[in-house]
Amino acid sequence: MGFALTQKFISKHWAVVSLVRRKKDAARLKEIGCGHCFSILSDVTIDDVQASMQGLLKSFGNIDVLINNAGTGGNGDTFAQTTADEVRSLLNIHCLGVLRVTQAVLPFMNQDGTIINISSRFGSITKIETGQLDDISCSYSYRISKAAQNMLTQCMCREFKNSKMKICSIHPSRLQTDSASTDADRTPGEAAEILYEKLKNIEHGKFYSLFNGTIEW
Ligand SMILES: NC(=O)c1ccc[n+]([C@@H]2O[C@H](COP(=O)([O-])OP(=O)(O)OC[C@H]3O[C@@H](n4cnc5c(N)ncnc54)[C@H](OP(=O)(O)O)[C@@H]3O)[C@@H](O)[C@H]2O)c1
Repeated sequence: MGFALTQKFISKHWAVVSLVRRKKDAARLKEIGCGHCFSILSDVTIDDVQASMQGLLKSFGNIDVLINNAGTGGNGDTFAQTTADEVRSLLNIHCLGVLRVTQAVLPFMNQDGTIINISSRFGSITKIETGQLDDISCSYSYRISKAAQNMLTQCMCREFKNSKMKICSIHPSRLQTDSASTDADRTPGEAAEILYEKLKNIEHGKFYSLFNGTIEW
């Protein structure tokens, strides 16, 4: 979805800074960016990610929107299959990755900027507790790490409740991507389109389902 989002914002004449792990992705983004897309080669799981972002962010000026999108799936769907290594690894991306990148970007954000953390319906404790997702397989590590990310989002929402900043979580829906669930039915392009439209109406503290209202935390 990250690529589709970049394409959408570029098509609307925004300047975009993307964090990518591979040179070939940076080159691809440069190609579509027509001089308006800048890449940081890094990885959200390394503490040094902040240092690698500073230079470009300083020269870039004020940031309007931060979208924390990096994510991946896990394997162990049962308690017996779940390993501490996998939980640690996904927490490092979905929760600590958001923490690191947001700490790096926040000093450069406009006072009325927007932070969107891409979460998942599987991070909703209410949805899990009420059995709404019982019929869809998903790893413990994914559910735990997205729930942890949601808590980080809510902590920030409370801390910044009197500021002009808007912070929210978005479940992007069931996208046909590498991380797709078995019931995926939307394209990343559709999701990027809707997210872009939603941007002007985002409310602080909400957990949105991209195509369908809000989700219980
Ligand atoms: N697909 C769905 O149905 C669905 C549903 C709910 C939530 N989500 C969430 O939506 C977000 C986007 O997922 P997607 O469906 O677009 O999946 P995707 O196609 O697998 O893309 C995930 C992106 O995250 C990047 N990434 C993973 N680990 C990273 C790291 N350590 N540092 C930097 N980048 C990293 C990947 O980079 P590389 O290209 O280098 O691997 C890739 O670009 C994720 O947070 C996912 O959990 C997706």
